[in-house]
Amino acid sequence: MRPQPPTDVPKIDMSKPNAARMYDFHLGGAHNFEPDRVLASQVEQFAPWVKDVARINRAWLHRVLDFMLAQGVRQFLDLGSGIPTVGNVHEIVQRADPSARVVYVDNEPVAVHHSFELLKDNDDATIVWADVRDPRAVLDHAEVARLIDFSQPVGLLIVGLLLFIDDEADPAGLVKTYRAACPAGSYLAISTMSQDEADAETKAELANLLRLYESADERITARDRATIESWFAGTELVEPGLTLLDEWRPDRASTPSAARLLGYGGVGRVLG
Ligand SMILES: C[S@@+](CC[C@H](N)C(=O)[O-])C[C@H]1O[C@@H](n2cnc3c(N)ncnc32)[C@H](O)[C@@H]1O
Repeated sequence: MRPQPPTDVPKIDMSKPNAARMYDFHLGGAHNFEPDRVLASQVEQFAPWVKDVARINRAWLHRVLDFMLAQGVRQFLDLGSGIPTVGNVHEIVQRADPSARVVYVDNEPVAVHHSFELLKDNDDATIVWADVRDPRAVLDHAEVARLIDFSQPVGLLIVGLLLFIDDEADPAGLVKTYRAACPAGSYLAISTMSQDEADAETKAELANLLRLYESADERITARDRATIESWFAGTELVEPGLTLLDEWRPDRASTPSAARLLGYGGVGRVLG
């Protein structure tokens, strides 16, 4: 049966900027509105490296997918998947294996609508409109049950998401719940923002960026390395461990940008 359009998705609020649509703007996408473009352009003026943050993160995700595919993973749960952009997860994994399955999850209406439009003829990939802070709403969702077989290894993608999840929402507990739903031999990928290795100038620019986002009701939290590493509990980090994103199994020279010092990523193999 073809997936039905997600119901109950709230109307899109075009009057105020939104982080998902600003990320789309930074990546050169077209699914953003005037308030998103105004704020994103302001951010780019004093923090020109912000575009590189998005690109480095997407390039890292692509290398992670190649790795997971090589390990035999054929089903992927992508939390906070974002607005579809070049090199979407389903395009990459279904190119490698047309029967690979993908469930995207996001709570941003534009991301959900565009993902649905893109996937409406794809029986093996779908989008779920849900808040990842409610893991039962995700894990018990009919579309998740249709496409993800939790007795087989899962590629659990938590990419560029946890910076938007406050400490009060218990990111460690959320990761644990999603990881515990996946069998041994699954892979957990996490990338998120950190300023542990940033220089003083970049830290100051980042502080400005966080203030601007906050003025738009979008709170971003940078985490230290030890906190991010702790989210991999119950897994064994694969080589080279938790690293700056472009130092994780690089396939090209690193980007000469302050952005390369602003994010860590790693992949853990879920233990039994
Ligand atoms: C920076 S984008 C990352 C997109 C993609 N994963 C990537 O790394 O390129 C973060 C995404 O997380 C989504 N998001 C943030 N908080 C969320 C929540 N509580 N539930 C579901 N999605 C959320 C946003 O709507 C946005 O699309």
